[in-house]
Amino acid sequence: MNASIAHFNGRLMPIDDIRISPLDRGFVFGDGVYEVIPVYDGTPLHAREHFERLQRSMDEIQLRNPYSVGEWLGFMRELLAHHPGNQSVYIQVTRGAPQKRDHVIPKDLAPTVFMMCYPLASPSKDAIEKGVACVTARDFRWEKCHVKSTSLLGNVLARQVSAEVGATETILLRDGRVTEASASNVFVVKDGAVLASPQDHLILLGITYQLLEKLAAEGHLKLEVRPVTEAELRGADEVWLSSSTKEVLAVTTIDGKPVGDGRPGPLFRKMHALYQDYKSRLAKTSAVAA
Ligand code: PDD
Repeated sequence: MNASIAHFNGRLMPIDDIRISPLDRGFVFGDGVYEVIPVYDGTPLHAREHFERLQRSMDEIQLRNPYSVGEWLGFMRELLAHHPGNQSVYIQVTRGAPQKRDHVIPKDLAPTVFMMCYPLASPSKDAIEKGVACVTARDFRWEKCHVKSTSLLGNVLARQVSAEVGATETILLRDGRVTEASASNVFVVKDGAVLASPQDHLILLGITYQLLEKLAAEGHLKLEVRPVTEAELRGADEVWLSSSTKEVLAVTTIDGKPVGDGRPGPLFRKMHALYQDYKSRLAKTSAVAA
């Protein structure tokens, strides 16, 4: 059991012993992709879907995937054997380290693969019961936000806007529409319907977003996938955030103004319960499988 054990290019080693070239294109260009997978007591939530999204991100940037989904799952299991309990698994693949800096994509370069774990910081009881504050900002990122790229400067600067005022997230607006937040997806509830932004190149299609879609159908909540306007965000009855680490969280203020009555709403409470129930069903299924 060693918290500092990580995976590097096909093997486990102490994280402090890992050496990466300064010419690595991940360092020089942010030329890489990543994933974050939540693990509850040794059971990853939707690991296969995360590795399939990793493949889609790699296809979009013409990066060869060195491993099959089966191999990735095996490496993750090996790493998790050293990290019990609730964990976030972080996986990063960059285009590798060429001999010189050149924008042109080199042929036949071995990618650099890195995977580490850290304790999963699930939302606090307070955040679940009282909701969280968000602010808005213009979405000035590029037009390939569906790629889970390590080039995260746009997201980092967006997150900083909320961090500076002690808020949890920055909700992004592009041409009068809600896209997503700096590291989560956004849902807007109005008149009993849950509205979610289209699954296009302007957002990262969250694995949690897809789970909420499925849970909404199972729980008979009306969910509409369509462009959501800034006016709908500001006039919403409820607003939620979703991500692998945040699960589903109610937003109770936006830019200092209350959302609805300023408390987590009934549809949030229903979705949150469905989510927790889904997690406990998952734990039972894996206990049976083990
Ligand atoms: N972020 N949108 C963005 C921009 C994100 O960075 C994330 C996740 C999501 C939600 O995706 P998922 O439900 O698959 O976690 C949406 C991760 C957690 C991160 O960067 O740490």
